[in-house]
Amino acid sequence: MNPIEQFEQEVEGNIRRLGDDPALKGAALDWMSGVAGGKYSYNFSWLGRPIIQFPQDMVAMQELIWRVRPDLVIEAGIAHGGSLILSASMLALLDYCDAVEQGGAFDPRASRRRVLGLDIDIRAHNREAIARHPLAHKIDMLQGSSIDPAVIAEVHRRAEGYQRIMVVLDSNHTHEHVLAELEAYAPLTSRGSYCVVFDTLVEDLAPHLSADRPWGKGNNPKTAVWAYLEGLQDKPARGVDGANLRFEIDRRIEAKLQITVAPDGYLKRI
Ligand SMILES: C[S@@+](CC[C@H](N)C(=O)[O-])C[C@H]1O[C@@H](n2cnc3c(N)ncnc32)[C@H](O)[C@@H]1O
Repeated sequence: MNPIEQFEQEVEGNIRRLGDDPALKGAALDWMSGVAGGKYSYNFSWLGRPIIQFPQDMVAMQELIWRVRPDLVIEAGIAHGGSLILSASMLALLDYCDAVEQGGAFDPRASRRRVLGLDIDIRAHNREAIARHPLAHKIDMLQGSSIDPAVIAEVHRRAEGYQRIMVVLDSNHTHEHVLAELEAYAPLTSRGSYCVVFDTLVEDLAPHLSADRPWGKGNNPKTAVWAYLEGLQDKPARGVDGANLRFEIDRRIEAKLQITVAPDGYLKRI
């Protein structure tokens, strides 16, 4: 075994042990419950735009985008635009790395890779700041509810012709809404790619932490993921590529992160 393989094997062992440790899981949940009240996830930015995520999940997105190499990332939930900029920056790096590998000149505007963001309310100051960002040329935005049939149809139309699509759901976190988003957009996820559902953590947190929200224990993205996966088992469906639509929860990601807002939310299309 070469040193690289040996290192990777060690890391896999670490991840397995960390993931199997109930005391650590409890400690992580205590910590996440503690910071949830303090709105910890609002503390960060990505290349200058505020992003409402945990740093651990940002690293997971970096690893996923590098591994999957999507040509389209569809994101429901824009807010200040930080997550769109994160995805766009990763797509731009993929473009750059492709150019280096192919020995050609790097033309930032030549690539097809794009991010498509959806939000029911794209505030003017956020829209302007995103439009002014150097990565704006990789971003398209649609205003409307992500479960509005006209928005869904438009997203499907724009996704036509893309080969490797990743989906990220981070908008309204009620069970009903996320389930409808999964029905609408999960079929666009390419095989080997991911549909990432954020804020599944709501199910694991104490109810008082979401008391002022329309979601809470029993009514949140995690319950929607469970219902969606159960539904696919009962009634198999096909993706837009015509192949069987099957997902598995990638628990290796939450085992490695330990701290994540998306337990059971990293769905890999298999
Ligand atoms: C948690 S924030 C998104 C955070 C962003 N993804 C990030 O990481 O920075 C949720 C966003 O979802 C939007 N939203 C709420 N209901 C929605 C709906 N029905 N359709 C689309 N977007 C919605 C809100 O306007 C808000 O901007």
